[in-house]
Amino acid sequence: MRISVVGTGYVGLVSGACFADMGMNVTCVDIDQAKVQRLREGHIPIFEPGLEPLVKRCVAQGQLHFTTSLPDAMANSNVYFIAVGTPTGEDGSADLQYVLAVAKEIGEHLKDYAVIVDKSTVPVGTADKVRATIQAELDKRGVSIDFDVVSNPEFLKEGAAVDDFMKPDRIVIGTESERARAIMAEVYQEFSRNHNKIMFMGVRDAEMTKYAANAMLATKISFMNEIANLCDAMDVDVEQVRHGIGSDSRIGYSFIYPGCGYGGSCFPKDVKALVRMAHEADVKPYVLDAVEARNADQKKVVAAKTQRLLGNVKGKRIAVWGLAFKPGTDDMREAPSIPFITRMLEAGATVCVHDPEAMTTSKREFAPKWIENGQLIYCNNQFDAVKDADALVLLTEWKQYRQPDFARLLASLKAPVVIDGRNVYNPRRMKALGFTYEGIGRR
Ligand code: UDX
Repeated sequence: MRISVVGTGYVGLVSGACFADMGMNVTCVDIDQAKVQRLREGHIPIFEPGLEPLVKRCVAQGQLHFTTSLPDAMANSNVYFIAVGTPTGEDGSADLQYVLAVAKEIGEHLKDYAVIVDKSTVPVGTADKVRATIQAELDKRGVSIDFDVVSNPEFLKEGAAVDDFMKPDRIVIGTESERARAIMAEVYQEFSRNHNKIMFMGVRDAEMTKYAANAMLATKISFMNEIANLCDAMDVDVEQVRHGIGSDSRIGYSFIYPGCGYGGSCFPKDVKALVRMAHEADVKPYVLDAVEARNADQKKVVAAKTQRLLGNVKGKRIAVWGLAFKPGTDDMREAPSIPFITRMLEAGATVCVHDPEAMTTSKREFAPKWIENGQLIYCNNQFDAVKDADALVLLTEWKQYRQPDFARLLASLKAPVVIDGRNVYNPRRMKALGFTYEGIGRR
């Protein structure tokens, strides 16, 4: 089976490589010539465990191809996945210009029946817009060609993208067409062989499923962050509360870890887009508004704790462990480290940072003046960052930060202050070791 995937971002590249690994002949299309050339040579532009060897292997086996030409890719296949970006527009809605530009080009070059698959996260009603855009081009050409537009949202997590794609909890496919349904079942048969993971539903149902899933997870996090702040104020340990409620099978243990706020490319963008959809549909998004507001505020909590513990941070040296929005990725999109570090720099502190993967990507997020004037210092070793610091602030729970050499940490810091934005350390143990420790809701 031959398929095309348009867009080689996170979702497109992972999907393309995984389909190729399952024996399909895949052509990935991207408008960025330099990126396509690098991908052909097996160099991938993002850090994602297992992806680079997978891409190299599939390219070497002739299963995976890269091109800048959508018509060339279309000539060789009849299933076209659209996996281009849907950034947040000025009003909070998902900006569909890239999705619809691809649809237009498909309409310009379509020759035979094809299934066009919306893989990008797109608002309810987008499949209708994609269909109309393609049809308009066919009408301009004066041709009549049958085609179907299917919604197939992707649920993979960064840092575990290949695994998630290969072993999905479910494969959601929205289509009303029997013909498209049969083709999509064939596309995914290897991913659904032992257990039937495929859920067929209406196109709009599938579009909403993706937003509802991400909004539900974001809600769990914001809820738990609010409980943690209450715990802080009421002398309660949120870790005990987390265990206490997670054991209820109706609640569950996942996604109830309080911290310094959720980030990444999906939750912030998708919650905003769903709020926008709600307004357009004339439904008041009370819950979603609160989820967003709590998250925006949560990103200030660690800075407030730092300022409270250090007093005036002007002239102080603050070490930061972790820049990426979560472990396992170099992605800095909406990372809580950005507002925290910016606030500390603006208040006159010197900030010494370390991250195992996101050092390069993070440099784009801070004004060059901070590095030039020596206030923002990048350290290649996590212990260089804490040397003579007035506090250590942990913002991303990478494994290498979880069990550090505490004696060395204590000896390196000028003042033994640790602010743990991810609740990875044990407050009692930290106190016994001689640290002034503060977590999120840890009493
Ligand atoms: C998410 C969804 O999980 C995935 O299904 C969807 O396809 C894309 O969006 P991702 O953005 O890769 O995936 O990250 P995820 O692991 O879900 O974490 C999102 C954010 O929530 C991170 O900032 C993380 O630190 C935070 N988080 C997660 C918490 O603060 N507490 C938790 O308990 C869980």
